[in-house]
Amino acid sequence: MPSFPPGFLWGVSTASYQIEGAVHDDGRGPSIWDTFAHTPGRVRDGDTGDVACDHYHRWPQDVELLGELGVRAYRFSIAWPRVQPDGSGPVNPKGLDFYDSLVDGLLERGITPMPTLYHWDLPQATEDTGGWLNRDTAHRFAEYAAAVADRLGDRVTRWITLNEPIVHLAEGYAFGTHAPGRALMFEALPVAHHQLLGHGLAVRALRARGATEVMITNNCTPVLPAGPGPQDAAAAAVYDAFHNGLFLDPMLTGRYPELPGMSDAPFIRDGDLDVIRTPVDALGVNYYQPTRVGAPGAESPLPFEVLPIEGVPQTAFGWPVVPGGLFDLMVGLRDRYGAALPPIYITENGCSTDDVPDADGRVHDTARIDYLDGHLRALHRAIDSGVDVRGYFVWSLLDNFEWADGYSQRFGLVRVDYDTQRRTPKDSYAWLRSALAAQP
Ligand code: BGC
Repeated sequence: MPSFPPGFLWGVSTASYQIEGAVHDDGRGPSIWDTFAHTPGRVRDGDTGDVACDHYHRWPQDVELLGELGVRAYRFSIAWPRVQPDGSGPVNPKGLDFYDSLVDGLLERGITPMPTLYHWDLPQATEDTGGWLNRDTAHRFAEYAAAVADRLGDRVTRWITLNEPIVHLAEGYAFGTHAPGRALMFEALPVAHHQLLGHGLAVRALRARGATEVMITNNCTPVLPAGPGPQDAAAAAVYDAFHNGLFLDPMLTGRYPELPGMSDAPFIRDGDLDVIRTPVDALGVNYYQPTRVGAPGAESPLPFEVLPIEGVPQTAFGWPVVPGGLFDLMVGLRDRYGAALPPIYITENGCSTDDVPDADGRVHDTARIDYLDGHLRALHRAIDSGVDVRGYFVWSLLDNFEWADGYSQRFGLVRVDYDTQRRTPKDSYAWLRSALAAQP
């Protein structure tokens, strides 16, 4: 692997509902993912996050794994329903105790904690009052962010507000394939605005409490028109505006892209865009794959059609492996936003593999090594081309609950045996440890 700049921040990422389990411990309230996963037919094989990787009880062992790996940072998420079981009002101190201990455990090993405040596990009580369709949720989110910073802000200075608001909007509220399972199509658009408003308000609350580096994490994708014709180009432009521009444009330029349903939208009030444009210190980017888009069929309810990318390797999920897409994405963002683009952290990148342990229980996940190696080389080329990238986080430390796909997809550097909770570092873990040891 090429040498990255000195000080480049190497890390791994996880998320609360995907690893913690312990859904009833210490006063945690129900989240939309508890409700969704317990609704028959919503998650593959009826899997739930009730136990997941039992990280809530086994976190010291997981922090040991981070220390052995040699990462300098750990991106985890904080479960809002542990902190405010009803989504607002009094803070549950026991819920915060868990993160307090985790932060101390990380710092003792010289690992920088980088918490995400919201990785999709909305308190069910907040959903019951409209969830992110309700403007009030933005204000509740900022209050929750302030409560967490009041407790952890003496040791945590780097924060991520939201994880992938586009995916939460699309899968959770437009198509209904994730919690809360609402299939509102374009009627879901207020969810975009309210998440962004909550983000801006939270940035201000965190700054007021001493945060030095605040960012949001977006899922970004380079969009490839299916063919050379103008209809494919137009469809690709609309897709790009929804997936990338809807969240980045207002944050970085103070304007929404031209999109159906967004001009003169009644839910955008005077002053909102100033809040949304509150400067961030960095931008978190999750990259998995490019998206190939063509003109929609006559019957399509959408103004575009997402098409397969053929002729390249695929992950166990069937996602195309295109490392060069990460280079194109980085350079594309720089060219699009110029001086308005803050420094970038790749806050997630990784793949699921069909892991089969050998007789000794070892996992030879060469496909993951190839994936990571290829993407890191592409990222290095982007840095060489002048894009300001400050860090890279692998998704994920552990195999975990992959949302609607339950436990069927394994993204970890470490295998989790869900019957015994035994952790076994895979070959990719050993590969990354050696690669990090060789970095400046
Ligand atoms: C999410 C993760 C998820 C990963 C792989 C991202 O969209 O932030 O929670 O597990 O992709 O699907």
